[in-house]
Amino acid sequence: MGDEARIPPSLDGVAAKMQPDYLRSVVDRGADDRPYMHTRMPGFGLANLPGFVEALTELDKPLPRPEVAFDTTMAKVKAAGRFLVGSQALSCIKCHTFAGQRAEGVQGIDLTIMTRRLQPAWFHRYLLDPQQVRPGTRMPASWPNGETFYPNLLGGKTTAQIEAIWLYLADGGNAQHPVGLGQQSIPLLPSGSAIIYRNFIQGAGTRAIGVGYPERANLAFDANEMRLALIWQGAFIDAARHWTDRGAGWEGPLGDNVIRWHEGVPFASLEKPDTPWPTSKASDLGYRFGGYRLTPDDRPTFLYSFDGVEVEDFPNAVAGTEPSLLWTLRVKAKRPVSDLFFRAAVADRIEPQADNTFVVGNMKIVVRDAEGRIRRSRDKDELLIPVRFQNGQAEFRLEIHW
Ligand code: HEC
Repeated sequence: MGDEARIPPSLDGVAAKMQPDYLRSVVDRGADDRPYMHTRMPGFGLANLPGFVEALTELDKPLPRPEVAFDTTMAKVKAAGRFLVGSQALSCIKCHTFAGQRAEGVQGIDLTIMTRRLQPAWFHRYLLDPQQVRPGTRMPASWPNGETFYPNLLGGKTTAQIEAIWLYLADGGNAQHPVGLGQQSIPLLPSGSAIIYRNFIQGAGTRAIGVGYPERANLAFDANEMRLALIWQGAFIDAARHWTDRGAGWEGPLGDNVIRWHEGVPFASLEKPDTPWPTSKASDLGYRFGGYRLTPDDRPTFLYSFDGVEVEDFPNAVAGTEPSLLWTLRVKAKRPVSDLFFRAAVADRIEPQADNTFVVGNMKIVVRDAEGRIRRSRDKDELLIPVRFQNGQAEFRLEIHW
């Protein structure tokens, strides 16, 4: 750390900068931000300074906190904050420790104690223009002239993005670690093409095929059961466990908003409207996995067959304010199959809306080129799509938004 950091910061604005509780603890016990300051301010003992912090706070009123209204869930706001802090965006963790984990270069003050220490308004002002608040600082302006590098994130609003970081960091030690934290992390970053990752993925079985798309929607396909197992947004996966001497084990999604898909085979023939969906393993029901075919930019179409039916299963990521999936299913039958259904969702409650749209928890499914139906079976709602063959072929699509 350079010499500039050894100069104690000016007292001017100290109360506007710090949370009263934090300031109280500093006055009482002395500052202990050693990696940051290299000096240890002595504690004066609050008992010797009655009303000192209150007087300072009165004199030096913090600015009002900027008002931010989000039109998305708190989980998504925090996911945006986590993204910005991580190595695939503004890389705050390159210079700041995070929950005690060392940064790469400069060991700036720990990100997870910032909201306990700082006034939110000061945080906003500092992030907008660190040079203005602290001339000569090595901290870059991440929103130069107030402009964001991420126009699709939280409506492209700078204040909303800074507030998202604050809200994410306010979880302190419980905040989910950002992407790229730690010396050993190898986050895979799809750019241009999709990335296929075949390894043990938590929640997707022993024959999982993970696919990360540049649009930042990702999925894991379970090639034992021929089913979509997981979908998630944001960062794809950390390959460190499998590529370094940490070796074997299961790795989970690195991103956010993970949805676990229901279990069971995707297609079944149902004799009667209330015939329950089969629960046997795919192999016992005659399913065979036939590998996958890739587009020029490496997006897989999964191929499988059962009972004379061949399926081309092509879930694909689509860019947007929120990345989504457009899932195309093509089915060919060598001989006529009756009462064949695709099961698109299973949940306690599935809410039908206009235009073949169905709400399943935090997810919205739009059925295209087919008709979705809800039935109650085994105490759950199921969204079924009847497969209607024409000349031995059928094709339909699902849009998945979450
Ligand atoms: C290139 C290194 C670097 C990056 C990247 C960086 N910082 Fe900093 N930051 C610093 C340094 C160094 C300081 C200490 C102030 C100084 O000495 O200039 C600091 C100080 C701060 C402070 C003031 C803390 C205090 O109590 O005074 C906040 C808040 C902060 N950083 C937040 C962030 C956030 C959030 C990000 C990501 C958006 C980030 N920083 C990215 C280097 C960096």
